[in-house]
Amino acid sequence: MKVLVTGGMGYIGRVLVPDLVKNGFDVTVIDRKFLTYDDVEAEYDNLGVNTKVDDIRYCDPAEIKGFDAVVDLAALSNDPSGDLDPIKTWDINYLGRVRVARLAKKQGAIRYIVASSCSIYGFREEIANEETTPNPLTVYAEANQAVERDNLFLADREFTPLALRFATAFGYSKRLRLDIAINAMVYNAITTRKIKLMRDGEQYRPFIHVKDMSGAIIRGLEADKELVSGQIFNAGSNALNVKLKDVAEEVKKSVNGAEIEWYGDPDKRSYRVDFSKISKDLKFSAKYDIKYGIDEMSREFSSREFQYHEEMITLSVYKKLIDAEGFLSKHAYKQRKMGL
Ligand SMILES: NC(=O)c1ccc[n+]([C@@H]2O[C@H](COP(=O)([O-])OP(=O)(O)OC[C@H]3O[C@@H](n4cnc5c(N)ncnc54)[C@H](O)[C@@H]3O)[C@@H](O)[C@H]2O)c1
Repeated sequence: MKVLVTGGMGYIGRVLVPDLVKNGFDVTVIDRKFLTYDDVEAEYDNLGVNTKVDDIRYCDPAEIKGFDAVVDLAALSNDPSGDLDPIKTWDINYLGRVRVARLAKKQGAIRYIVASSCSIYGFREEIANEETTPNPLTVYAEANQAVERDNLFLADREFTPLALRFATAFGYSKRLRLDIAINAMVYNAITTRKIKLMRDGEQYRPFIHVKDMSGAIIRGLEADKELVSGQIFNAGSNALNVKLKDVAEEVKKSVNGAEIEWYGDPDKRSYRVDFSKISKDLKFSAKYDIKYGIDEMSREFSSREFQYHEEMITLSVYKKLIDAEGFLSKHAYKQRKMGL
């Protein structure tokens, strides 16, 4: 199966792409490419992956042609990055991904997976499932809701779109993210012996290891059309709806001498998500728990080879790109293409 992965040089992509190759998929990546500290193109070249450095909003439609399936990961990938410039966030996260899905369908793809987010539910008392009315609280979450609606609407006899609403990721990827809760806690514990925790730690969050995200996407590619067409699946595990206090305690146990440092007023923003549907319909179950991720990240941050890069904080990447080259404008895109 020929698969196009948009945003395939990002945190999830760097785990998913090698997994897809291992599982026999013929993979092409299209990504605007924002990391400067490693040579992802050489790595993908070695794996036999075709790599295109381009922007999903403006690339030639022919670049989205000739694939059986598209996994759509390209986006500004968290709330603060989405807030930097809300109009441009809509431009990429909504219009860009609608463009990809429509072009994919028009040009013969039969399956399309969009990476959405459980943040679409907002903070709430009850456990949210796929039937729960979303309560998006940020531009990032609103764009996810809109793109789910419009891309799933494309479902018909030939075209099978589905959305995976991912829990918050943790764990190692070559494009490391330190702006996600568990990775950040472990990083701070290793480097400062402090685990920063907003009071009172009773807040629940749903988590998923990045390797399990990749596994869920592959299940979505392989599952019977009847099970997934036009469907939304929360992607995570009921066992990984965890209180932040419990995550912090686990980090404390794993990192010698680390102490919890409390801050802020009690945070009422808590949410839990029901992941029964993906387990029942796609037979997906998460293999990696929080302790696995904490130990993994702890080893990574303690190793001599580990080097901090500002680009590990997603917000910094986008701030820098906007300052340096107006990343978000078509004009800047054209100049870049012309090598100016
Ligand atoms: N990581 C998580 O916790 C998480 C949770 C839920 C949903 N998601 C979603 O999964 C997707 C991937 O997340 P990630 O963690 O890998 O993020 P990431 O920021 O590491 O990767 C996103 C990739 O998209 C690329 N990109 C951005 N705008 C582009 C454009 N206009 N054209 C081409 N490429 C572009 C970037 O260069 C980057 O490589 C995102 O849609 C994100 O919202 C992630």
